[in-house]
Amino acid sequence: MSEGAWTAIDEYVAEQLIGDDAALDAALAASAEAGLPAIAVSPPQGKLLHLLARSIRARSVLEIGTLGGYSTIWLARAVGEQGRVLSLEADARYAGVARANIARAGFAETVEVRVGPALDTLALIAAEGPAPFDLVFIDADKVNTPEYFRWALPRTRPGGLIVADNVIRGGTIGDPQSGDPGGLAARRLHEMLHGEPRVSATTIQTVGLKGYDGFTLMLVE
Ligand code: SAH
Ligand code: DHB
Ligand code: MG
Repeated sequence: MSEGAWTAIDEYVAEQLIGDDAALDAALAASAEAGLPAIAVSPPQGKLLHLLARSIRARSVLEIGTLGGYSTIWLARAVGEQGRVLSLEADARYAGVARANIARAGFAETVEVRVGPALDTLALIAAEGPAPFDLVFIDADKVNTPEYFRWALPRTRPGGLIVADNVIRGGTIGDPQSGDPGGLAARRLHEMLHGEPRVSATTIQTVGLKGYDGFTLMLVE
């Protein structure tokens, strides 16, 4: 099985289980048009986030790393009329593209995109007072994934989920000598999770149109 087959099968799955989706297709097209990198979650992964959020009846979602708002739209569709998605993005231009995509998808009132380095924005959010999240999706600069997890853990309600994307990174997580800072950060995340009683976690390796990667799923106890 080659990367070509992984992509074809992701496309087959999307065709059968997702189908044509005008808002998501438009978001990807506008993101490509604006020159954003094609690193959004794949359609099957986007739907997984959506299903996870619905499974726990999430109403309050935090996303770290908006890009063009593709995963944001999947999450916004899960939280219901009263639900809220807060999404953090360092790049003001990307955030502008995302806001337009999100508005076109009908979620201007559901989603707030905040611009700035996420660690700074998170410090401000923490100072605003208690805001327990039902689900946190960590998908920004991979070196800071452990810090985002550290921030999210006490702010995610028991029974809530934290999902960290891109923890396998072509397998660099398995090699401490790889020199990949993201791989080392993924190892740090796993060291934090080892023996951490406040979460129960697993990591799933994935193949698909984004190559060989994976995600960590954490249930807050
Ligand atoms: N979640 C998106 C993809 C995010 S790609 C999706 O699946 O559709 C990662 C994003 O994180 C990029 O847009 C990048 O600009 C942003 N990013 C990188 N460093 C960041 C930081 N320190 N704070 C906030 N966002 C950051
Ligand atoms: C990158 C970021 C992502 O969120 C992703 O899914 C793949 C790649 C990146 O920064 O290269
Ligand atoms: Mg990602």
